[in-house]
Amino acid sequence: MSKRLKTMGEQFDRRSWAEPWKIKMVEPIELKPKEEREKAAREAGYNTFLLKSADVYIDLLTDSGTSAMSDRQWAGMMLGDEAYAGSVNFYHLEETVRQVYGYKYLVPTHQGRGAEHLMSQAEIRAGQIVPGNMYFTTTRLHQELAGGKFVDVIIDEAHDTESTHPFKGNVDLQKLEDVIRENGAENIAYVSLAGTVNMAGGQPVSMDNVKSLRALCDKYGIKLYLDATRMVENSYFIQQREAGYGDKTIAEILKEFCSYTDGAWMSGKKDHLVNIGGWAAVNDRGLFDRLRNMVVVYEGLHTYGGMAGRDMEAMAIGIRESLQDSYVRARVGQVEYLGQLLTNWDIPIVRPVGGHAIFLDARKFYPHLKQDVFPSQTLAAELYLDSGIRGMERGIVSAGRDPKTGDHRYPRLELTRLTIPRRVYTEAHMDVVAEAVKAVYQNAHKAKGLRMVYEPEYLRFFQARFERIE
Ligand code: F0G
Repeated sequence: MSKRLKTMGEQFDRRSWAEPWKIKMVEPIELKPKEEREKAAREAGYNTFLLKSADVYIDLLTDSGTSAMSDRQWAGMMLGDEAYAGSVNFYHLEETVRQVYGYKYLVPTHQGRGAEHLMSQAEIRAGQIVPGNMYFTTTRLHQELAGGKFVDVIIDEAHDTESTHPFKGNVDLQKLEDVIRENGAENIAYVSLAGTVNMAGGQPVSMDNVKSLRALCDKYGIKLYLDATRMVENSYFIQQREAGYGDKTIAEILKEFCSYTDGAWMSGKKDHLVNIGGWAAVNDRGLFDRLRNMVVVYEGLHTYGGMAGRDMEAMAIGIRESLQDSYVRARVGQVEYLGQLLTNWDIPIVRPVGGHAIFLDARKFYPHLKQDVFPSQTLAAELYLDSGIRGMERGIVSAGRDPKTGDHRYPRLELTRLTIPRRVYTEAHMDVVAEAVKAVYQNAHKAKGLRMVYEPEYLRFFQARFERIE
């Protein structure tokens, strides 16, 4: 019997699960011929962000804004109340966020970085330190633009692609306390905590860790804010891995986690199963007033914040759908399935597999390449050339330059991310992806790396251009 004829459960020695939905509408995709892919990659400066989507076959660039909405969400779009002020859909969203996340006050924004901007400007004074569990590109930039200095206080295991620690997103409480003692509590703007740490490979934070973090913040009178972008997926890992949470629902775990924090910012484009939208939510009335005043300057009136009424309705419905346990199991299960195929072939990836993506370990693909010829950028380009699959660099290019010295920052992790959109691809697509990665791995010794020929000032990974080193 061929391998393909075994069920997933048989292959991986467990009972199979299936997605709790069926497909009602499809969008054709096409694998372009090799010569066209070569031309497209050259024209895009070997940067997958600059490829045209029509030239991509399976698009694993990001899980951000790429979800498939449900029939309920599309129906909700028809209920958009496009009033400039006081839209019905805003109140539906506000009520949903209150009930699900537990925060008192909501400020809508066009997407996550809009909320990061407002929170950073409202809560950071020039020269203050912002400790966090590993940086995220846009989050850190907004903290820096507000005059803050980000300091990484994640546990050491997060920087080790082989460590199988179940909660590699955890804050190292000793590191954090050292930072507080060295700088004085008054010089800490707040602690910036992210669920399923993106740059570490989608690694979760435990409930135990956030509880201890709350206690430590209280001891020094410091605020704790959460990047809730993928907190639903973080809650799933707590349910699966942390003692005492196996019988709790994702919804219960999420609400408890948030209860230890003072507020959050959110990119609705991930967990909330929508194509656009975000928010900030806080418990402090004074902070809320400041955020609500700023939102009218940068985003839009405080009852839409850059979203159409229909977008807010789709998000309110998406939030409820995202909490369905069977959905989250299938979503993370698909990521785990791809990870398991690659692991079975000894392809180097970050373990354990995170919630939204597989992170290929480019250092291990290309032990012969130095970091300044951009190994993960090279790997993303090679994968596209091989099979039209689009991934993303998460290494030295994403890390950017140190604003003080102007040098590259050299992160320990040099990863290429294959991010799985929610409710979009099937298991057969995952098989195709796994075989493509295997082919690129087998040819890895031939790669010579890339040279950067154009570098923009901010968030360079989005627009930098490269040439192949021959
Ligand atoms: N926080 C995290 C953890 C994110 O992953 C992102 C976006 C943001 C904040 C910013 O939100 O895009 O709505 O402005 N991450 C995307 C990604 C871009 O591909 O990982 P946004």
